[in-house]
Amino acid sequence: MIIDFTFYNPTKIIFGKNSLDKLEEELNNFGEKILFTYGGGSIKKNGIYEKVIAILNKCNKKIIEFGNVTANPTLDKMLEGSKLAKENEVDLILAVGGGSVIDCAKGISATAYCEGEVFNRYWIRREPVTNKTIPVASILTMVGTGSEMNGGSVIRDVKQMIKEVRKFPVECFPKFSILNPEFTFTVPKFQMVSGIFDVMSHLMEQYFSGNDDNTSDYMIEGLLKSVIHSAKIAIADQTNYEARSNIMWCATLALNTLVGCSKSQDWEVHAIEHQLGAYADTPHGMGLCCISMPYYRYIYKYGLDKFVRFAQVIWNVDGQGKTKDEIAREGIDCLEQFAKDCGMVTKLKDIGCTREMLPLIANSSILGGAYKKLNHEEILHILEQCYE
Ligand code: NZQ
Ligand code: ZN
Repeated sequence: MIIDFTFYNPTKIIFGKNSLDKLEEELNNFGEKILFTYGGGSIKKNGIYEKVIAILNKCNKKIIEFGNVTANPTLDKMLEGSKLAKENEVDLILAVGGGSVIDCAKGISATAYCEGEVFNRYWIRREPVTNKTIPVASILTMVGTGSEMNGGSVIRDVKQMIKEVRKFPVECFPKFSILNPEFTFTVPKFQMVSGIFDVMSHLMEQYFSGNDDNTSDYMIEGLLKSVIHSAKIAIADQTNYEARSNIMWCATLALNTLVGCSKSQDWEVHAIEHQLGAYADTPHGMGLCCISMPYYRYIYKYGLDKFVRFAQVIWNVDGQGKTKDEIAREGIDCLEQFAKDCGMVTKLKDIGCTREMLPLIANSSILGGAYKKLNHEEILHILEQCYE
């Protein structure tokens, strides 16, 4: 059943091989001062930096560069950008990179003109944004988060050891996002598969909730099938445009809030992973991959019919002569086998997490879940299964 909802997403998506050609036209809609935000240098190696600079110069823009935004972006780095943006009265923040760079840009947008303890105010207490915001736009170079078409901004406060998501209002959504699948060809395989699992996790965290007949679930199944199909091709041939373009569009659709309409949603795996990121600075998608299988094995019996459907629709599990429990478990086994076949990491000890971190992570990541509300002991039990 479709329960009442409001869907509004104003981000303009410019998709394709020649999409950067449209940047000039889009930039003409904004003032002259641009905060050019990027990561640790990949765009300088693959030539995207020079291309963007040339277009900015052609448009007579004043460029204020803000580079070295790291993966799992920190509060201190974001605040450095906010200060720069305010001092220079920038008219647009142009984020060129993956989710980390775009998330940082949205954080700058919301906090440049905000006084006081911005992290506690906007990320912890989630107060409404009443101050002036700065327009954001993105050129996506790494696929996975969906940050190119949503208001999400995940920021890590290393002093408080908290990595937290804030869903900012539409004022902070990218005004436009340029999506050229070719820009992702240089993403290392490890990062590519990390992004692929992130997409799958976004879809599964919305899917594993509710017991109703719901159009959103059918859309999610379609996207999951597409990303699984294309992942296998892209892993064998990283510059396969067809596969990379499908994965890119799946990623955007997975978290632009469309398929979440009328869904209660879960997000416990993400809540745990974000705290894992706070303690161990893990690659987001690989953290999700380590947590997902033990988590789903723990909760599947509380949403059994949905896990049976997942097994049969997504993984073609033959249910002949098997109990629902066996079918559901086989579906999770298929997910795990897929992750292994893709070369994804499935154990936390392999991505910088130590055993000592597990109780600390469990302490700070109780969100709620959909089919089963977990307590601290249960999360710790799951984390131990994820460890080795
Ligand atoms: O920093 P550079 O040198 O650019 O290198 C990056 C980085 O090391 C590299 N990379 C990006 N594009 C590349 C490339 N390398 C070669 N060629 C290219 N074309 O990839 C590495 C990872 O980049 P990052 O932006 O950190 O990855 P991702 O897009 O996975 O973003 C992860 C962050 O997004 C948050 C995560 O928590 C994490 O902090 N999320 C944001 C969400 C949102 N806004 O809605 C939702 C997600 O669930 C997620 O939580
Ligand atoms: Zn994610």
